[in-house]
Amino acid sequence: MENKITQTGTAQMVIEGKSYDLPILKGSLGAPGVDVRSLYKQSGHFTFDPGYTSTCSTESQITFIDGGEGQLLYRGYDVEKLAEESNSLEVAYLLINGELPNAEEYKTFKQTITNHTMLHDQVESFFQGYRRDSHPMAMLTGTVGALSGFYHDDQHTTEDEARNLAIHRIIAKIPTLAARCYKYRVGQPHVFPQNNLSYAGNFLRMCFAVPAEEYVVNPIIERAMDKIFILHMDHEQNASTSTVRLAGSSGANPYACIAAGTACLWGPSHGGANEAALNMLKEIGTVDRIPEFIARAKDKSDPFRLMGFGHRVYKATDPRARVMRRTTHEVLGELGITNPVLEVAMELEKIATNEEYFVKRGLYPNVDFYSGIVLSALGFPTDMFTVLFALARTTGWISQWNEMLEDPSQRIGRPRQLYSGATLRDFVPMDKR
Ligand code: CMC
Repeated sequence: MENKITQTGTAQMVIEGKSYDLPILKGSLGAPGVDVRSLYKQSGHFTFDPGYTSTCSTESQITFIDGGEGQLLYRGYDVEKLAEESNSLEVAYLLINGELPNAEEYKTFKQTITNHTMLHDQVESFFQGYRRDSHPMAMLTGTVGALSGFYHDDQHTTEDEARNLAIHRIIAKIPTLAARCYKYRVGQPHVFPQNNLSYAGNFLRMCFAVPAEEYVVNPIIERAMDKIFILHMDHEQNASTSTVRLAGSSGANPYACIAAGTACLWGPSHGGANEAALNMLKEIGTVDRIPEFIARAKDKSDPFRLMGFGHRVYKATDPRARVMRRTTHEVLGELGITNPVLEVAMELEKIATNEEYFVKRGLYPNVDFYSGIVLSALGFPTDMFTVLFALARTTGWISQWNEMLEDPSQRIGRPRQLYSGATLRDFVPMDKR
């Protein structure tokens, strides 16, 4: 990656009466940043920003979020447009390479991905080691990390060819692994990939086909699955992406880095929120109970939060939530499902987005608000939701990992701390304590 940020000015930071000049850096979009890299050397002071609310961890050219406008761009293209008009492999190519493929490039990329969809036969023994009732995210975290044992050479991360192989392998194998997690959980035999199907169609078949029957992919469901993949593919320097970058900054094996990202995504404040949002909507149950839950969300003495609401960056409706809302209607319409949970969701969105508490704090529906409803209509149990998120996000993670390794300014990530523990004291032998 060619570094493109430029210095547009100088900021003066005054610390205890002494002034320090710090460069102001600007990218192509978004707020400028004050370059504090030399601050410690110059002044002996750190900056303090737990949760990274004001800190850019890297320069990146992949994804941009305009939180105020509710816009998400992949390599400059609006995600809503990509979700409606492109497909997941084309978007994967875009994220990795920076440009949309022409017909020939797309054909070659698709062929390369389909060449790698199968798992090494021995991966199966990792699944056999899990309890049947293991959470599928536990299985995915473990088995994606286990791929590092099969493709050790891909860790020669400085070589383009090895890096490309790792990128193609992980994008190709993650649907097969994710589907295997589902099949293992429900006690059904592994369904092998079928390479004449689309990325989403193949995944649906690996999840829902059984050897005893023919499985025909429903094109509306396939399209919905593909849109879900596109919407979840990348999202700037979120917690799991930053985890992948941090793990990768030491030169670790790429599959181990993806396992680290998968583990981070699992938490309910991140990828686990769609499961939590659906559970919340089910718990609310009927529209007349919404005010009770809104009151709880506003009550600071109650830890309850409206799941699927709010975002660190978006202070308007998450654009992915808009596509999800439309997709939910399409899928439920196609399957002829009338789901009372959808009615609760739409009413909750209407009430909450007009309440002062939520408007003042910029809390609007995020991608997870509707995704649980549509995923459950597609036939996935709630504990698979985060697995589907991880499957899609793997493309973003590996693109970011690749960008980091191509960045000439890249160094191992090593945050500092403000230490507030005990100062130096003498060791006291046990019999004297
Ligand atoms: N319900 C009620 N109040 C909320 C909510 C919510 N969902 N989210 C934030 N707030 C309040 C919070 O109490 C705080 O109020 P105050 O200023 O009075 O103390 C204010 O809004 C700011 O919240 P914060 O926790 O400082 O915001 P954050 O940027 O640290 O957290 C968040 C972002 C997504 C973790 C949070 O909004 C949340 O917990 N939402 C619910 C979980 C969720 O839906 N997560 C999915 C995120 S989207 C998927 C992804 O991209 O990973």
